[in-house]
Amino acid sequence: MEPVTPAPASPWTLAARTAQMNPSLIREILKLTDRPGVISFAGGLPSPATFPVAEFETACAQVLRDAPQAALQYAASEGHGPLREMVAASLPWPVAPDQVLITTGSQQGLDLAAKVLIDTDSKVLVESPTYLGALMAFAPMAPRIESLACDDQGPALDDLRAKAADARFLYLLPNFQNPTGRSLSEARRAELSAEAMRLGLPLVEDNPYGDLWFDAPPPAPLTARNPEGCLYLGSFSKVLAPGLRLGFLVAPKALYPKLLQAKQAADLHSPGFNQRVVAEVMKDGFLDRHVPAIRARYKAQRDIMLAALRRAFPADADPDTSLSWNTPAGGMFLWARLPRQMDAMRLLPHAVARGVAFVPGAPFYAGHGDARALRLSFVTASADEIERGVAALADAIAAFAHGS
Ligand SMILES: Cc1ncc(COP(=O)(O)O)c(C=O)c1O
Repeated sequence: MEPVTPAPASPWTLAARTAQMNPSLIREILKLTDRPGVISFAGGLPSPATFPVAEFETACAQVLRDAPQAALQYAASEGHGPLREMVAASLPWPVAPDQVLITTGSQQGLDLAAKVLIDTDSKVLVESPTYLGALMAFAPMAPRIESLACDDQGPALDDLRAKAADARFLYLLPNFQNPTGRSLSEARRAELSAEAMRLGLPLVEDNPYGDLWFDAPPPAPLTARNPEGCLYLGSFSKVLAPGLRLGFLVAPKALYPKLLQAKQAADLHSPGFNQRVVAEVMKDGFLDRHVPAIRARYKAQRDIMLAALRRAFPADADPDTSLSWNTPAGGMFLWARLPRQMDAMRLLPHAVARGVAFVPGAPFYAGHGDARALRLSFVTASADEIERGVAALADAIAAFAHGS
């Protein structure tokens, strides 16, 4: 890789890897769509109505009373001991607290995994589509990203077999995936896990949405079947609050020391005060009471969006102006497809002009994307906004199809 030379007058020479760093297309899209009066299904934010503000207020005061100096001092890179213990105890397979590394969001877990596992030109397997933030975390290491063909159950086994040779890992989102909302069935997990073990292929399993199920809990993570062959990432962002910037990883013994060293280089440790506050909030089983309320809220929101979609795009609608969509069993997103030949990226400005925003699906693909796909978040808009936003989307599609 050649270094990148910026504008002639600049004294700075950028590292060659910066050529792989690009602004998140989604953040750029959000800037365009974040206008007063525009109903947004575009953001990936949890509903702020779920943030347990009062509990945080009490916990912050408690932490400052109990351990003010320790809470405000530098702290251990591995994370706050009681929080690591709570994380280990919450997982459905035997995890020792010393396998847990508290991270600055699970996004940092992806960055550390990239630094520790990817060389230039290393092959990395991802789902199709996949989480854009992971592609952004992997990109500076200049891997060869290969997408696996996926159905509504996740990656197809035959494509995994065809592409696995020499891959460093498969990055997998088992539950209510961002962006599609899809989940891997029990059978697909068993097959994928067995095949990965047979092929000697490690898995990086990213599970920030697993607790947000609507009717039944998802099957156990794939890591539970083969902990030494999997790096597991979790997050407090969707069950408590993303502003804490706290997540965790559970690493096999062979990886932990290097991940820890990478973290030390990145930020020494994740905010100690926040970690103590989260441990304080969680200490009496708070999540067991809190998370069911998030599930109920998000399920009701999903149902409102599904009903609005059925009204705006009835089954007997003109196929040239209709939309199809899936029914996610948890999480925050629904995945939809536009009528034939319609490009979501090109539709977006027309939709915004009519007062509704979504995220086109194409940026979520490592390779050639599905131009007809789009992601709709159902968790932050009100019922009335969902109704009006979906109706505006139907108007935009009809007008676009008829060239107006
Ligand atoms: C699949 C996935 N992984 C990781 C993250 C990063 O989450 P955080 O860093 O807030 O834990 C997100 C955020 O939306 C996500 O959707």
